[in-house]
Amino acid sequence: MKFFIDTANLDQIKEAQDLGILDGVTTNPSLMAKEGITGEQNVINHYKAICAIVDDKVSAEVISTTYEEIIKEGEALAALDAKIVVKVPMIKDGVKAIKYFTSKGIRTNCTLIFSAGQALLAAKAGATYVSPFLGRLDDIGSEGLTLIEDIRLIFDNYGYPTEILAASIRGPLHIISCAKLGADVMTGPLSAILGLLKHPLTDNGLATFLADHKKAAEAAAKG
Ligand code: E4P
Repeated sequence: MKFFIDTANLDQIKEAQDLGILDGVTTNPSLMAKEGITGEQNVINHYKAICAIVDDKVSAEVISTTYEEIIKEGEALAALDAKIVVKVPMIKDGVKAIKYFTSKGIRTNCTLIFSAGQALLAAKAGATYVSPFLGRLDDIGSEGLTLIEDIRLIFDNYGYPTEILAASIRGPLHIISCAKLGADVMTGPLSAILGLLKHPLTDNGLATFLADHKKAAEAAAKG
């Protein structure tokens, strides 16, 4: 399973990269705004800064909503760095744009996926990734994980190469559930990734090992 971090915070991206488990980054206009990144040039510089930290696969989202504008903006984003994946919303012009980007060899991430039908359309257009938003479905009382399961079944039925990028992940349990269902990628906050590290029995076990080692060493020193 590939791990992407869902943030525009450079310190958090560095921390995940230093951990050695990071495969990519997803951002969106809200995450950029949260970091106070506004204005076209600042946004571009920020994408470049993210690309300088990670090895590959940095999703940069277009803010255009018409076919021509999505193409223009997406091509400009893709030209920034070979690591960029153009993130396109699941709208009619977005699907057309994904088809175009695919024909040009530009990788795409179709975002704001909330139904299996949307994922199927994006896969037919050749999207590299589809991003079903689990957490936001859970938030409205819908079953986010069922959507991952349905998309996995459909893509496997027809052998679509489009990868399922489980997005809007809220915590470590979401990551485990997505891994069990065969999502290819998950994107979540650093807290969800680090949450996988934790288990009280690990902490207790380690404390006991270290205490026993210390006791034995002290006893040996006394002769
Ligand atoms: C995906 O690429 C999105 O950036 C993201 O996962 C949205 O998640 P949220 O529901 O936590 O905003």
